[in-house]
Amino acid sequence: MKFLETLQPPYVLKADGLAGGKGVVIPTTLEDAKQELTEMLGNAKFGNASSKVVIEEFLKGIELSVFVLTDGNSYKILPSAKDYKRIGEGDTGLNTGGMGAISPVPFADEAFIKKVEERVIIPTINGLKQEGIEYKGFIFIGLMNNNGEPNVIEYNVRMGDPETEVVIPRIKSDLLDLFEGVANGNLNEKIIELDNRFATTVMLVAGGYPEEYKKGDLITGLGQVEGSIAFQAGTTLNSELQTVTNGGRVIAVTSYGDTMEEALKKSFSNAQRIEYKDKYYRKDIGNDLRGYYKN
Ligand code: GLY
Repeated sequence: MKFLETLQPPYVLKADGLAGGKGVVIPTTLEDAKQELTEMLGNAKFGNASSKVVIEEFLKGIELSVFVLTDGNSYKILPSAKDYKRIGEGDTGLNTGGMGAISPVPFADEAFIKKVEERVIIPTINGLKQEGIEYKGFIFIGLMNNNGEPNVIEYNVRMGDPETEVVIPRIKSDLLDLFEGVANGNLNEKIIELDNRFATTVMLVAGGYPEEYKKGDLITGLGQVEGSIAFQAGTTLNSELQTVTNGGRVIAVTSYGDTMEEALKKSFSNAQRIEYKDKYYRKDIGNDLRGYYKN
């Protein structure tokens, strides 16, 4: 509480344990920050995950996710992506795992990624080795672009969702071959070839998500999806073998386009074709990036 009093608002409180990507709160007043801290530490707001809370400086800028595949020595930088974390349009409301994603990210140009590589990726791979950690797999670096300077927000040892649904489609090389390189320690011999097109994804979620939501609602229109890939996540088959909702994040609708607009148009039109009760998706995915592109 005393430390909070030394900071300027807004305040960033993070549950230190696993909280499904939702363990961050950003109160804007000292009073709310103290209340949240009490909820997290004292009332186990995020269960065991908030038995320890990290209080962080608030950074202003645009977030992006950078992904690295490593065999422990060499690494490949995968396409970067931007996700949209809050449930509401204009990035408002509760945090979710992500309501949509865009790849590539306009400001993550060669110069920016070079800074990330030199300041973050190489020291991370070397640091793992120095600490005797043999790490093979994905490293997900959550960054903030603070006036052209990358600030690390978080690391995850996994891919991101829904970033995966735009990053993997942009990898033209055989993914299995890359994974073999990771397993066998010869990733440096592999070539990673990327698709230059844009990929966008729009996440269809259950009404009420990320709080309480219903399951078991009939999903129709999947057969009408044209020109997009509908990645099913929170779905299952009922006893009559019909596809029904079975989670908060139901389907991610991914599309390619020569421009971001073209890809988004397809994702949104197919998002409309898929129907279930209380379907919700954000219609402003990509809006904040429009200024960066001419079309
Ligand atoms: N989309 C953010 C995450 O996967 O953590």
